Amino acid sequence: MLSEVLLVSAPGKVILHGEHAVVHGKVALAVSLNLRTFLRLQPHSNGKVDLSLPNIGIKRAWDVARLQSLDTSFLEQGDVTTPTSEQVEKLKEVAGLPDDCAVTERLAVLAFLYLYLSICRKQRALPSLDIVVWSELPPGAGLGSSAAYSVCLAAALLTACEEIANPLKDGDCVNRWPKEDLELINKWAFQGERMIHGNPSGVDNAVSTWGGALRYHQGKISSLKRSPALQILLTNTKVPRNTRALVAGVRNRLLKFPEIVAPLLTSIDAISLECERVLGEMGEAPAPEQYVVLEELIDMNQHHLNALGVGHASLDQLCQVTRARGLHSKLTGAGGGGCGITLLKPGLEQPEVEATKQALTSCGFDCLETSIGAPGVSIHSATSLDSRVQQALDGL
Ligand code: PMV
Repeated sequence: MLSEVLLVSAPGKVILHGEHAVVHGKVALAVSLNLRTFLRLQPHSNGKVDLSLPNIGIKRAWDVARLQSLDTSFLEQGDVTTPTSEQVEKLKEVAGLPDDCAVTERLAVLAFLYLYLSICRKQRALPSLDIVVWSELPPGAGLGSSAAYSVCLAAALLTACEEIANPLKDGDCVNRWPKEDLELINKWAFQGERMIHGNPSGVDNAVSTWGGALRYHQGKISSLKRSPALQILLTNTKVPRNTRALVAGVRNRLLKFPEIVAPLLTSIDAISLECERVLGEMGEAPAPEQYVVLEELIDMNQHHLNALGVGHASLDQLCQVTRARGLHSKLTGAGGGGCGITLLKPGLEQPEVEATKQALTSCGFDCLETSIGAPGVSIHSATSLDSRVQQALDGL
């Protein structure tokens, strides 16, 4: 068991193209978002394991001796196993959560205990730890915040228990794990996601682990070899959406108008493939024509998504406001409100970006400038902190 403090971060995600079509067997492209979740793990000697999630006001502590005395043999020793409903019930008893506990808290705590007990069971004694997780990602906005949480937990616990080596070398500010370790992190994070979401596709945890851009097709996930980091505006319309109802709506439209809707899905598939091709060709200094293609793909897909019935007046407003400034936007994720992305081409003056953000904010939206294609799960030096981590730690 390592005795040092660990600082880990993992990115969120957005879907660039292929939302909804992916449910019908088409390709989707998901990219990492440079809004990250951070985790600090400090070994303790007070016999407790503490979990604190300041963004959502959660603070819980368990007595390690009590956890140790409970029969948790239902969790296979150190093996990556899918949590069964019986295990979930037993974990609820172990967690000792009150009946009226909010759903978010219950799921966050269960995912934590599942990963802590499963990964640390190989140790002679369960470790006493203090874990704080905080995030730049808004929860429940389709930006993969729960996956980033599971990825951070899996990476930190596996490293603390020396299942994988700490990749930080002397003088490093930040570093990443080798491929085999990332695979193990991703496997465990997927189980954490299963505790939270039941039956997730695995795309969110994969993007958060690997970073960059991923292609998802009929359950198969692969990394794009090359994907440039692109600047975007991420706009949260704050209009609540119901993913399940929106997915059902598209299915109904497909059943009602197969001749009309099936070609739309085929066209979205072609958009994803064309985007994948262009991203693969974009080098360190992408050509202006390549940006024009990306913008055209964004416009065409946004029209298709509207035709599928998953648009919303707020998303139309986002597109109009940015279009008036020569910028191109589309919804990302389920639609019906939620978030949209706007591509920022290089050479755009900062005052113009600020004016666009201001215009979107005055529509009542939250708008952030960030990038896509950011690195996946990373470990940061606890002594030479970059300003972003330092700022967040100061606020804890
Ligand atoms: O908003 P999100 O990130 O949950 O994305 C939903 C994406 C859909 O294609 C609409 C549904 C799905 O399960 O793929």
